[in-house]
Amino acid sequence: MNERIAIVTGGIGGLGTEICKSLARGGRKVIAADLAARSERIDEFRREVAEFGAAIAFEPLDVADRDACADLAQRVAAQHGAVSILVNSAGITRDTSLRKMDGAQWDDVIRINLGGIFNMCRVLVDGMTAQGFGRIVNISSVNGQTGQFGQTNYSAAKAGVHGFTMALAREVARKGVTANSISPGYCDTPMVRAVPDEIRQQIVASIPVGRLGEPREIARTVAFLADDDAGYITGANIPVNGGYFVSF
Ligand code: CAA
Repeated sequence: MNERIAIVTGGIGGLGTEICKSLARGGRKVIAADLAARSERIDEFRREVAEFGAAIAFEPLDVADRDACADLAQRVAAQHGAVSILVNSAGITRDTSLRKMDGAQWDDVIRINLGGIFNMCRVLVDGMTAQGFGRIVNISSVNGQTGQFGQTNYSAAKAGVHGFTMALAREVARKGVTANSISPGYCDTPMVRAVPDEIRQQIVASIPVGRLGEPREIARTVAFLADDDAGYITGANIPVNGGYFVSF
């Protein structure tokens, strides 16, 4: 397998860690980009991925900061070479009903969950089209497809992620670059564990598969879309939700 360079935003997060491992297992050099402020988690992450040695590196990044995204792209290109795979997995929740939501809760979710994807694609897409190869995988959400009580901000951002993905897919298709999104359902991550117990139990009870998803089940789908052989899948959204939302 070609040693392609991959950047995973939110790389030390609930889904991001498994995504990094899965790409590294496939022979990729992986840069896990995430907030430097999460210092305790960085140490834990380093222990979790120790077996991969230099195949997984950490770089500090706030995806909402455009200049930081441009700096990261330059640093990675200088140290490792051209980036071929971008997985946009950075995301936050600020759940509350609209009538209580303040401007900051709206802005933060849109800037990070949707703006972060623009920022990273913007600084990496030219390098991918110049190589004639690229794989962009954006993590959306089932709640972008269905809406969720208390998530007008998050559902809007995640629906936007797929709109962005479809449009970008058309722009880069002739250059060997694919852009797809994955819409995970409720997975066993700190984000989902933060949902109030009673509400989470009701949600789990309504998942046909009868359990939360495992982060590695999302990571497996990322690896599939990031593969060299996945060049004919573009502009697609892959639901991985245990049957929680089934659509044509
Ligand atoms: N469904 C129906 N009614 C609900 C409700 C729900 N989920 N949540 C609250 N209500 C009711 C309340 O009981 C309250 O009723 P009363 O006025 O009769 O007392 C009314 O709606 C108003 O509620 P609030 O305005 O007080 O709502 P809130 O601001 O406290 O927010 C909430 C409630 C904590 C956001 C809650 O709705 C909730 O946890 N919703 C689910 C959020 C969720 O699933 N987040 C997913 C996070 S994980 C993730 O996002 C990953 C992924 O991609 C899947």
